[in-house]
Amino acid sequence: MKKNTGLILLLVLVFSSCGKQEVAKNEKDHFIDSLLAEMTLDEKIGQTVLYTSDWTSTGPTIRDSYKEDIKAGKVGAVFNAITTKYVRDLQHIAVEETRLGIPLIFGFDVIHGHRTIFPVPLGETASWDLEAIEQGARVAAIEASAEGLNWTFAPMVDIARDPRWGRIMEGAGEDPYLGSLVARARVRGFQGDDLSAPNTILACVKHYAAYGAAQAGREYHSVDMSERMLRSVYLPPYYAAVDEGVATVMTSFNDLDGVPATGNKFLLKKILRDEWGFNGFVVTDYTSINEMVNHGNVADLKEAASLALNAGVDMDMQGAAFDDYLKVLLEDGKVTEEQINLSARRILEMKYNLGLFDDPYLYCDEQREKELIYHPDHLKAARDMAKKSMVLLKNDNQVLPLSNKSEKLAVIGPLADSKKDLLGSWKGAGEDDRPVSILEAIRKIAGNQNIIYARGCDINSTDRSDFGKALYAAMVADKVIMIMGESSEMSGEAASRSNINLPGIQTELIKRISKTGKPLIIVLLNGRPLDLTEESQLADAILEAWFPGTEGGPAVAEILFGNSNPSGKLPVTFPRNLGQVPIYYSVKNTGRPMDPDQKYTSKYLDVPNTPLYPFGYGLSYTTFEYSEPQINDTILAPGSELEIKVKIKNTGEYDGEEVVQLYVRDLVGSVTRPLKELKGFSKIFIPKGEEREVVFHLKPEDLAFYRKNMSWGTELGEYILFTGGSSADTKEISFRLVK
Ligand code: NOJ
Repeated sequence: MKKNTGLILLLVLVFSSCGKQEVAKNEKDHFIDSLLAEMTLDEKIGQTVLYTSDWTSTGPTIRDSYKEDIKAGKVGAVFNAITTKYVRDLQHIAVEETRLGIPLIFGFDVIHGHRTIFPVPLGETASWDLEAIEQGARVAAIEASAEGLNWTFAPMVDIARDPRWGRIMEGAGEDPYLGSLVARARVRGFQGDDLSAPNTILACVKHYAAYGAAQAGREYHSVDMSERMLRSVYLPPYYAAVDEGVATVMTSFNDLDGVPATGNKFLLKKILRDEWGFNGFVVTDYTSINEMVNHGNVADLKEAASLALNAGVDMDMQGAAFDDYLKVLLEDGKVTEEQINLSARRILEMKYNLGLFDDPYLYCDEQREKELIYHPDHLKAARDMAKKSMVLLKNDNQVLPLSNKSEKLAVIGPLADSKKDLLGSWKGAGEDDRPVSILEAIRKIAGNQNIIYARGCDINSTDRSDFGKALYAAMVADKVIMIMGESSEMSGEAASRSNINLPGIQTELIKRISKTGKPLIIVLLNGRPLDLTEESQLADAILEAWFPGTEGGPAVAEILFGNSNPSGKLPVTFPRNLGQVPIYYSVKNTGRPMDPDQKYTSKYLDVPNTPLYPFGYGLSYTTFEYSEPQINDTILAPGSELEIKVKIKNTGEYDGEEVVQLYVRDLVGSVTRPLKELKGFSKIFIPKGEEREVVFHLKPEDLAFYRKNMSWGTELGEYILFTGGSSADTKEISFRLVK
């Protein structure tokens, strides 16, 4: 099905008095109206169906009849199919072998890069660099669209405060303010400002909603929370993505207050459509309509399909529920034709927006594929981002950076020579053998002759047979670098862990090595906050490198040797132990705030309330000194804004970047308020010895929250402002919000 240009010309003339945008909208509406008028019920239902190809699998079932399904006009979109050749062949079936030739949309989980893999999203967020995050998504879109794709199942914006949950690495961490800005940056990066350009793709914000709050961090588990918590903490990033113009929304697997998200009218109609005005299409997660039968809120798949469509789902991912049941549900009067039309229309509109009716093969350009995959600019952006994402957690006696290139280094650990684990989970089409390992990258900088390597142990086994070699390496070296952590499979979907220690016998090996007394540097690859209490007592330095992507090896080496100064800050709290979880910086005061000298106060007997490494924390090779914050007024009135100034001096020996953070506390509210809430941040570069001033602006509306009666707005009274380089290291000043 191609656009009729004669008709379009006529329409352009008819609407010449309207604005350009209105003409385009009318043109699109007319095209879709005419198309829908030609479509049979089966063809409309076909648009609401999404099936996976057999290129790769991201879920429990593979429907091997998908090619016949496409030919029968029963499919609106396909996922997990890549490369221009493969996609072109499938598109050809849709365009040439079906009655109306309606092109397919091609989706894929392009989460942190397509071929050129960037750090996992939690790591990218640790950069606090929104431009770089947007650029990462842009690069991902360029490569994905050069390999046949026009839809990514990203950004994942689920707020997560439980490190047991394996998917914590796929989002932006614990904070709704930071998470919302990152969500916007990613949507902009994927979609650009013209969806019909061949290098932009539809984004899909997921998993709506509150998937990150699964009980006890166990994957797919139930979610139950107050509406206040939902709206204040979990919903803002989805809203931000919608407000930024995200094209599609994916429902989540979990139930929420007893209703699975995929059949949840409150989420999909009341909030998403009515309150937020979302006008793209809603796709389910993988067979999540079917899973409502297991949830136990419907008796069978037919009822599940009815509930999903009635709740506001437009497209069924892989479940065949719409395919099998929408027609009979219509005959039974359980759904209406208008609903089916509306869903089909929303999907067709996105095809139109992508330019697929002009050219169904727009995203199948072999030349672009050849030129753009692993383009040097993409690799450079990935390396820069990897460096920005790393967080220096500890650096006693300035053991880092390693400056003396002639000293002997022992490089030890199960992840030192791994390539594939650098990529992390959801690595898109990233190729396991592409990265340079950290060991190889260190050898390149330090010289082969200065490196002595021992694997030491596996990531997750009890085999101690290489301990001796590792100990010998440490003994003959001047310094020891241990590359430890999780395998990439230990993060991502269906990868919850019931403890957050370093897996296997890694900590035991660290203990043994530390006894040699050699300066000990630990580099961590992992996708979640870990319990590092023991390791932090054994190591002189700890560098959190997350899963840093295709260029992660050289990026780690460049940081270790000081070619680059770490500037990442934690987007999520690292607890002292799992018993503190959930732990996050924006907690409430309680009626009995912690007092170490008073028994009956809110605390533990065995650990302090504070985390090991707080939200917003991260060291640099240099040091920064903060001035007291200054404000232009102690009164904030409607229509005005506070100007908050803070001076930061680089007092160390290196040029460096610092993430200056602004937090607020509302001292008295109609409901209890967090002790601190992030309200702003600025990442600045300060040459050594120099000082810079950062200016923040705060308006009354920035202080709005869900008040006692659930209305959104501000309350007058005393507030405290905090500025600093971490949520736990701030200087404060007060002001009053007045009428
Ligand atoms: C299930 C995951 O939850 C979702 O994030 C992903 O996009 C789909 N599978 C498709 O692979």
